[in-house]
Amino acid sequence: MTEVVPLARPSITQEDREAVMRVLTSGRLSGGPSTLGFERRLASACGVAGAVAVSSGTAGLMLALQACEVGPGDEVITTPFTFVATASAIRHLGATAVLADIDPVSWNIDPARIAAAVTRRTRAVLPVHVFGRPAEMTPIREIARAHDLRIVEDACEALGSHIGGMACGSMGDAAVFGFYPNKVVTSGEGGAVTSNDPAILEWCRRQRNHGRLPGSAYGSPVPGHNFRISELQAALAASQLRRLPSLIRRRQRLASEYDRRLSGHEEIVLPDAEQNDMTMAWFAYVVRLADRFDVQARDRVRARMSDLGVETGHYFPAVHRLPSADGPGMRVHDSAAHAEALSDRVIALPFFHDLDGDQMDRVCEALISCVGRQRPA
Ligand SMILES: Cc1ncc(COP(=O)(O)O)c(C=O)c1O
Repeated sequence: MTEVVPLARPSITQEDREAVMRVLTSGRLSGGPSTLGFERRLASACGVAGAVAVSSGTAGLMLALQACEVGPGDEVITTPFTFVATASAIRHLGATAVLADIDPVSWNIDPARIAAAVTRRTRAVLPVHVFGRPAEMTPIREIARAHDLRIVEDACEALGSHIGGMACGSMGDAAVFGFYPNKVVTSGEGGAVTSNDPAILEWCRRQRNHGRLPGSAYGSPVPGHNFRISELQAALAASQLRRLPSLIRRRQRLASEYDRRLSGHEEIVLPDAEQNDMTMAWFAYVVRLADRFDVQARDRVRARMSDLGVETGHYFPAVHRLPSADGPGMRVHDSAAHAEALSDRVIALPFFHDLDGDQMDRVCEALISCVGRQRPA
C-alpha cells in the first residue's frame, strides 16, 4: 500500500537531537541558558529589543494583550479568517473580538474594515499574518496611531516573513510567535512574545512565571500564570532557528513548485504572494477552489484526496462560525462575507521541509483529478 502523504511533518536534524540531549544531561530543565539563548536569537532574527519564550502561541497572545492593557469590556479588532486561538485569547481576557473582514486577494484583514470597526471601546488591533503572508502593516499602523490603539501582531505563522524591509514580529507594540510542530521552526509546543518595549517584555517575563521575575519576589499586582517553556523545548527551537534561512528557502522553493504544477487550472485559485515589497516564509500552502464549488463539493474533494492517500487540512474555518463562537466576546463588524466564502473553499495541501517530488506529484494529481470529478456538469 502506498504511504499517506502527511499534511505536515517537522524537520529534525542530528544537531537538533544533540541540542536536546545536552539539556537532558545538564540536569537543568527549566529557566536556564537554553531559554535565554533562544530568546536572544529570536529577538535578533526579528530585529527587536527582546523576546520572552512561553508555553504556546495562545499563552503569548494572552500575555501580550494583557501587557497592552486589554481587559474586560475592551474591544480588539481582528480577522475572522484565522486559527481559533487568535479570538480565544482576546475572549479569555474578558474582551470582545471584533471581526473585520479580509481582503479577498491577500486573505489578510482589510485595513479599511479595521478603520470602520473602531469604537470608543476599541483598545487594540490584532492583525494576523495568515499563512506567513504579512498583513498590510503600514495602513494598520496609521489607523492605530490615529485612534490611539495598541497593535499586537499574531505572527504565529510568520517567522521569517518581511514587508517593507521590516520583519513580522517587529511592527507592533508586541508580536507573538507559535512553535507547534507544523510551524517553520518548532519546539514541540511553545511560543514567544517579541517587543521593543521594555515594560511589555518585563510584564510577559513576570506573568509567565506566576508574577515573579527570576530571583525576585512576587511583584505582580494581578495573578500570574505558568506559561513557562522548558529548556528542552527552547534548545530544540534555538537549534532550528539557527537554520531559519535554509528552512525558509526550502519552503519558498516548494511553494514555487506547487505554483508551477497547479497553475492553469481555472478551478484552483493559488495563494497570492506577488507583492513586491514582501518576503513570505510560507507556513502553509493553501489553495482556494473556484466560486462554483460550495462547501460540500470542497469537502468531497478533501474526502476523495484522503482516499487517495493525501492528507489535507481545513485552514481555516471562519472563527465566528465555530461552536465556540456562541456566547459573549465575539462579534462580526458589518460582514465577514469574504472570509466565509474563502473558508468554505480552502484546502491546505501537504507542506513540509522534506516533501519530495514524488509526493508532490501525488498531491497535485490527486487534487486536479478530484476537482475535475466534482466539476458541475
Ligand atoms: C494564527 C495563529 N494564532 C495562534 C496560534 C496558537 O498557537 P498555539 O497552538 O501554539 O497556542 C496559532 C497556532 O497554530 C496560529 O496559527
